[in-house]
Amino acid sequence: MAVVRAWIYLLFTLICFGRVWYLFRLSTASLRAPRIPTTHTIPADVDRSIPISMGAEPKGIFYFVQISDLHISKFRPKGHTHYFLHFIRSILPVLKPSFVVVTGDLTDAKDMRRVTSQQYVEEWSLYNYAIDQGVQGTRWYDMRGNHDCFDLPSWKSRANLYRTHGQSASLIAEGGGIYAWEERLEYGRYKFIAIDACPKKGPSRPLNFFGYLTSKAMDQLASHVLSDSYNHTFMFSHYPTTTMVFGLGDILQAYHPSTQSLELELGDLKEHGLYRIVAIDHDLISFVDTPLPSAIMKSRPERLIPLDNTTVLWPHAVDIAPVVLITNPKEARFSIPAKEPLEQIQKSTHLRFLVFSSLDPSQLQVSIWIDNIEHIHPAEFVGNQEMPLWVAKWDPSSLELKELHTIRVQVDTPTMIGSSSIEFRLDNQRTKVNGGTGEWIISTHMTSTVRFCFSTSSF
Ligand SMILES: *[C@@H]1O[C@H](CO)[C@@H](O)[C@H](O)[C@H]1NC(C)=O
Ligand SMILES: *[C@@H]1O[C@H](CO)[C@@H](O)[C@H](O)[C@H]1NC(C)=O
Repeated sequence: MAVVRAWIYLLFTLICFGRVWYLFRLSTASLRAPRIPTTHTIPADVDRSIPISMGAEPKGIFYFVQISDLHISKFRPKGHTHYFLHFIRSILPVLKPSFVVVTGDLTDAKDMRRVTSQQYVEEWSLYNYAIDQGVQGTRWYDMRGNHDCFDLPSWKSRANLYRTHGQSASLIAEGGGIYAWEERLEYGRYKFIAIDACPKKGPSRPLNFFGYLTSKAMDQLASHVLSDSYNHTFMFSHYPTTTMVFGLGDILQAYHPSTQSLELELGDLKEHGLYRIVAIDHDLISFVDTPLPSAIMKSRPERLIPLDNTTVLWPHAVDIAPVVLITNPKEARFSIPAKEPLEQIQKSTHLRFLVFSSLDPSQLQVSIWIDNIEHIHPAEFVGNQEMPLWVAKWDPSSLELKELHTIRVQVDTPTMIGSSSIEFRLDNQRTKVNGGTGEWIISTHMTSTVRFCFSTSSF
């Protein structure tokens, strides 16, 4: 009798396990083997015969822009919507990037008193119309953040206004939450992956702070990523790869030693007015995070959602101070020795940097200091309409190999000053990111296996 009972228990346990396994497979089906649709292929194969060395040529370099956390809001005119419209009106025409990526929280979806959440069609329409009416000649990629998924029963739900108003909605739908695109340039191939990490079915606030991709899905995603040969792979997600809630308020910047990838969180546009420019110059990756000008940050529009819901009420464009992005040498804190040809720095004949300004290069006065000593060679504009590249001759062999050096580039216009300074090395070593708590948290919750990752989170 006891034997029979034991068998029954065993059978019952097995059935339970089976059921659990079935439910698990069912609920994570969409995460397995993500099909990544690829768009925008510029056909042309990598010409390996071109000897790559960093000189004065405006070649081997491209750049893009990332913004995050727009929180377009029906109820909050200051910041939020206003900054977004200014980004399009005042910043984008000066930057002229290859493309813009928005990593989530396109709309605010909160009510007047910030108590309840709801998807407002006016917020989504404004987002959509602003891009349609204000962005010309720049590709635009977007993905949802947690605010864009508040109160959504499913992707197909009518409340999912991203599906009807998001710029990349069809790509996300097709790829089951993930899409990718590729830049094929004559000197290299670069892959970009966007992850829509909204919970597919709905916990509403506060549980949907967590991204939905499991670490297993991340691994699969990564194997997908690593299976192809790209000079660099960039991943964008609204959630840090650790899907954590501990990092509140910290800007995450971390280097993952086991995977040789770098994770860089970008601050928000809605309150801090931040945008990021990322340049890839001879496979060295550099970026700069810049806030909107104070003239924009201080101005207070009265009304943002137009009465007819369709014509965008554009603010007057504001001049911006020059934005400087140094691409050679590369900032040592963010170097990825296994993935970047850092030896190029030592071999290079010129310092290289991008200067974004609405003024003609002839009206800019550029000064350079290395280790606080004014650089003897003058800076020279060698770029064109598409590439605001400046160079200055230099001799890296005159600098101490094993030390940390600083370079500062300052650009004066008749009325404004822009500058950038970074620390660099010539021995291909990396220096600590100093990400503080953020880095510690990421390094203790290692889930990412991708090479380079731009994420953002807001709670
Ligand atoms: C991109 O990768 C290819 C293949 O490894 C290489 O030949 C080429 O030099 C790389 N491009 C750059 C800019 O380093
Ligand atoms: C604009 O949108 C609001 C909210 O959906 C609606 O009440 C109003 O009638 C719309 N206005 C026009 C002119 O369509």
